[in-house]
Amino acid sequence: MDKLIVHGGATLRGSINISGSKNASLPILAASLLTAEPCIIRRVPDVSDTNYMIQIISALGADVERSSGTVRIACEEISDVAPYELVRRMRASICVMGPLLARKGRAVVSLPGGCVIGDRPVDLHLRGLEALGAKVEFEGGNIILTATDGLHGAEIDLRGTHGPTVLGTDNVMMAATLADGVTIIESAAAEPEVLDLANFLNAMGAKIQGAGTRRIVIEGVKALHGVEHTVIPDRIEAGTFMAAAALAGEGVTLRRVCREHLKAITAAIEHSGHRVEFNAAGDSCTIFRGEILQGADLVTAPYPGYPTDMQAQMTALLATTAGISVIKDTIFPQRFMHCAELKRMGADIKVDHGTAVVRGVAQLSAAPVMASDLRASAALVLAALTAKGSTEISRLYHIDRGYEHIDEKLLMLGADVQRVKER
Ligand code: EPU
Repeated sequence: MDKLIVHGGATLRGSINISGSKNASLPILAASLLTAEPCIIRRVPDVSDTNYMIQIISALGADVERSSGTVRIACEEISDVAPYELVRRMRASICVMGPLLARKGRAVVSLPGGCVIGDRPVDLHLRGLEALGAKVEFEGGNIILTATDGLHGAEIDLRGTHGPTVLGTDNVMMAATLADGVTIIESAAAEPEVLDLANFLNAMGAKIQGAGTRRIVIEGVKALHGVEHTVIPDRIEAGTFMAAAALAGEGVTLRRVCREHLKAITAAIEHSGHRVEFNAAGDSCTIFRGEILQGADLVTAPYPGYPTDMQAQMTALLATTAGISVIKDTIFPQRFMHCAELKRMGADIKVDHGTAVVRGVAQLSAAPVMASDLRASAALVLAALTAKGSTEISRLYHIDRGYEHIDEKLLMLGADVQRVKER
């Protein structure tokens, strides 16, 4: 197991490339199960979550090659049982369910277990697939879906108590591509990653309209074919480095970003007093740390609102921003594990019922801290950049799930960080 030692106080400058999106890559890799023809997917980030997904589709029978960010997948013959040992490692494995059901008429996937960021049920996924005609059964910890007579188009409302579901929308959309007739998903997730998946599926021959909005219409087709696709930039990795630049930078440039996808994050960083300048094409931006800073009121919301996946990192930024900030997570109200660790570094944060009240302090101080999930670990790295002393962040495997070479990117920007083996 690795840990990261961050020696606080270095100034970040220079430029880095943002990687392809983890959360777009995962369902796109799974979608390659929908065809027997080869798919070539570019800019797949080299993170452990994409590795898990590749292991799962390989275990299902796919022939997979990976080099320099490009993954080539051929799924000529596949099985319909996703192995528990692999599936249990990552909740996002659930998105093989839609493709397997569509291609094989049956899918056996283990029920996801508990999750540190909060309760994460799959009832909406199942409601959607059931509406398409699948029979849903549970046995030995597995979900067993069968559609002996094939899937049939239907009108489905996927709204849950916490809003739309990203992977639920993906699962139903993937299954509906090969269903008989037209499927309409109301209250669909409109995240850019859902649109990227729809673009991938349409390039395979699917007929999907409205992805990226709350209403998606899918006209089923008989078969899908192979395709080449480049994954969109990771807006959460970009946002994390924007926050790092705002905390400890002196003009940091991020290339390979998408301005449109970063609107809510840019607005939050600018509101706190920092400056973000995009080039004319909107695919590169430079962040300048502000001089007069102020706290912020943030509420996470489905896209185009402020993303829950950037809540922890913004909390770290606001921990040393003068004034009072109020941060509410409406999507995962329990996603505040990072606050306890930030408090050990001297942050003044009170968490109550899904809301954190942060009183900005002048500086944090180093302490041994523990990563608890992907975005919480990113928040600890950010906090450590300007903390007094050397912060040791253990359980770094959490961050390696979703940030490609984070230590190397930070080193390129001038941060003083070391990845070392935990004893
Ligand atoms: N929900 C239900 N029932 C369901 C599905 C979801 O009630 O059947 C609830 C969840 O409990 C949550 C809300 O709906 O309160 C939204 O969850 P969603 O289904 O959208 O989450 P997800 O699709 O499982 C993706 C990302 C997460 C991100 C969320 C929200 C991937 C692989 N994961 O998860 O990313 O936080 O959307 O935007 O795309 C991360 O990258 O760190 C991460 C956790």
